[in-house]
Formats: sequence, structure tokens, C-alpha cells
Amino acid sequence: MSLRRELTLELIGDPTRPIFLDLAESLIREIQRGRLRSGQILPGTRALSRTLGLHRNTVDAAYHELIMQGWLVAHSSRGTFVAEDLPDVIRDESRSFHSPMLNPRHVAPPSCLLTITDGTPDPRLMPRVELARAFRTVLTSPHFFSSSGYADPNGATMLRAALAEEFLNARGLSVSADDILITHGSQMGLFLAASAVLSPGDGIAVENPGYPFAWASFRSGGARIIGIPVDEEGLDVDHLAHEVRQDPGIRAVYVTPHHQYPTTVTLGAGRRLKLLELARKHDLLIIEDDYDHDYRFDSAPVLPLAARAGSDQRLIHIGSLSKLTIPALRLGYVIAPPDILSRMTELRKAIDRQGDVPLEQAMALMIRNGVLGRHARKARRIYAERRDFLLEEIGSRLGDIVTFTVPAGGLAVWMRTDTRIDAVAWAAAAREAGLQIETGDRFFIESGGDPNCFRFGYAHLDMREISRAVSIMDKSKPSH
Ligand SMILES: Cc1ncc(COP(=O)(O)O)c(C=O)c1O
Repeated sequence: MSLRRELTLELIGDPTRPIFLDLAESLIREIQRGRLRSGQILPGTRALSRTLGLHRNTVDAAYHELIMQGWLVAHSSRGTFVAEDLPDVIRDESRSFHSPMLNPRHVAPPSCLLTITDGTPDPRLMPRVELARAFRTVLTSPHFFSSSGYADPNGATMLRAALAEEFLNARGLSVSADDILITHGSQMGLFLAASAVLSPGDGIAVENPGYPFAWASFRSGGARIIGIPVDEEGLDVDHLAHEVRQDPGIRAVYVTPHHQYPTTVTLGAGRRLKLLELARKHDLLIIEDDYDHDYRFDSAPVLPLAARAGSDQRLIHIGSLSKLTIPALRLGYVIAPPDILSRMTELRKAIDRQGDVPLEQAMALMIRNGVLGRHARKARRIYAERRDFLLEEIGSRLGDIVTFTVPAGGLAVWMRTDTRIDAVAWAAAAREAGLQIETGDRFFIESGGDPNCFRFGYAHLDMREISRAVSIMDKSKPSH
């Protein structure tokens, strides 16, 4: 019988981890010892699950994991094959399959330190061949080297138009290329926005806990930061109203309504309306940071505040491509009323005459040829699976001392620890055991903010790494 239909395997049988990882490792072992060869077709998930007596979802998850790691490739109509271009396996002399080398694309530092970020994408998923192709197309185009001068300080028109037509209009933002300024990441957008609209001494209300990099931008222009509490519906708009009445120097408010940073909650519909109304009434400028719009997993899409704002609303909408691509590709964008946008462009010219033209044009091609859209759909599916897996792992291993609300999207989970736990000591013990994780006190304005929380960015970790991270937290958790 051909391998297409039947493959008998002996599972490694490690009871400490999920069966799909066990099956994935068994398959890697067969590839490494040459039983499964490059280009060979594997049985379908239904056939293999029948042969091995496993649930089909388990086989599916194992295949999926190995595709992610580069051991297998899926050809949509033909089936799943052993990859032609196998990962560069760093062979462990002992051939121990418990080795962290198992994921060969993860080049672990000598200490095997796993890092929990604040919510970054997995660079291994990036369509890098297509990106390289796009750069090549741009750089070999006769137009690229025929222009002798500087480019448009607002950014490449082709990228602004592609963003407007393919991404932003679908989010309810009816904009054209002329309404957009491209920046080196949204951080630059935050800085330019604050510099364009705030004078030294002006107040800007921000979420507390919130995003310290934004505060740094606002403070650098001499603005005062006023912290507004956040609850399970996001920014407490009544509290903001109170502050605004007390302090007429508050000129702007900065919000992350889609998934509040760091707590991940979505600003409720009622609060959105109230915020827009309050801002109109007190002539407050809203700075909306829509940093992870592409990642909504569960509920219906939630449109940005900017999609609801009328023409009389003073609102700056800032977005980023860092979560959709990788943070190393510095691309962000700003949509603002024309007077503010042109002030921002002037400021941008003062520090940086134009953006990175090859990058902007290559990204425009990636949007127009559908590669970025396909990548977004794939990444969304994978991150939703990873989120579910992380929540299961946390629930089963740390459920006695940690609580969380399932985030409807985004690349991180906000966890609160039992207040009897010394979370700082827990993070230190985890680090000793190979896991870098920081407590959440750094997200509070006041020094000595609440340390009994973690923002657990999971998306850059595959399931095996997530399992390892939670297992380290489990083993290093303090008694209470
Ligand atoms: C709240 C928030 N805004 C913006 C960004 C993106 O920044 P940038 O586009 O500069 O990479 C991040 C990235 O972590 C973020 O967490």
C-alpha cells in the first residue's frame, strides 16, 4: 500500500506534552533518519488518524506545526509533502528529540532563553521570498534610477493609494492617497502628531495602564501626561470628562480602542460615542493608535473611531505595518485633517526629507499583488490557534494563580496573578529557568504601579515554544 494512504509510526510517547507535538516529533524523527524523504507525499490527515488511532484534529495540528517549521509543505489540491528544502538541522549528537534544536528555524541563544514580548508577530511566517522579489522588481525598474531628486515627503503615492484602496477603505475609512502620510513606523507618527498639535505645557490624556512609547513621544515635546483609568470596557470616558472639566489645559487624548494596550480590551460601543461627543464638546483632539487592526479573531470586525468621526471631529488616526509584517520593516501611516497633516509633513521634512522609497514601493507591490492580504489571512488563522493553545495551557497549568479574559484579537494576553503571589520573584525565577518575561508595572504611569500582571505576547512563538514557556512558568511559580 502506498504511503499516500498508510504510514505506521511509533509515537515517542511523552506524557508531559500534547499528543500533536509528540506526533510532530515522531514525523521529524522519520525524516531525519531518511524513512520519509524530501518530496514524498504523506497520507491525508483522515487516513493517518485512522492508522494511528488518533483524532483527526491532532494529526491536522501536527502537520500544521511541521509546515510552520519548514519540514512539510502543503500543496492545496495535491496534499502534504516532505519539504524539498529541509531546514538546516543542527544535529544533536545524542539525537535527543527533547532538544530545543527541534525547531530548526528558531536559532536559540546558548542559554535557550525564550522571550515573551509585548505582542510581536512571528518573523518566520513572513513571505520573505515574495518580499525579496518585490524589492528586486522595484530596484531593477528603469523608473527607480531615472529619478534624480528627492521623493514625496508624504511617502510613495503607490503605497498611499494601495493602502487606501485595499486596506483602509475596507475599515470604513474613506480616504485617498492625498489624505495619508507614510512614516517610519507609527512611533514616528505619534511623535509628529504630538509635535504638530501640542505646545509645551499642554495636557494630553492617556490610558493608564498604557503605552509608554507614546508617552515618551508626547513628553519629548513638553506635554503633560494625564493618566485615565481603564476597565473591562477600555478607557473610562466619564473619568476623562471629569479631568477635562478640572483641567482646561488638556488638549488631546490618546487611545488604543481596538485592543487597549496593554489590557487588550476593546473600547465599548457606548464609550466610543461618548468619547467622540466629549471631544467635540471640549475641542479635544483624539489620537487613535490602531496598531493591530488586522488581528481580530472572534467577534465581528470593529471599525476604528476614525470611521465614525464626522467632518467636524479633530482626529488623527495612526496605523502600523509592524504587526502585519515585522517591526524591522519601518512603515506606519497617518490620516489627519488637512491642516494637521500638512504641519506633520513639514515637521517630517525637517528631520527626514522622505521615507524609504524602495521599501514603500515594494510594500505597495505586495499589497497590490495580494501577497500581503493572503499573509494577513494566514497569520490571523495561525495566531488565533496559538492564542487558543496558550489559553488552554495557562488554564490547565497556571489556572490556580492566574486569571485572564480571552482577548478578541491582538497578539498578546493580559494575565493577572493572585495578589498573594510575588510576581516579580516569579519573573526572576522564570528567567533563571530560561524564560524572559516582565511584569506589567512598566505599563503604569506612576512608578511602583501594579506588578501583579503580565502582558504575554504569544504570536511569535509556535505551539511547542508556547508549551515550553508555560511549562517554565509552571515550574518556577512561587507558592502562595
Ligand atoms: C500600542 C502600540 N502602538 C504602536 C506600535 C507600533 O509601533 P511601530 O509602528 O513604530 O513599530 C506598537 C508596537 O508594539 C504598539 O504596541
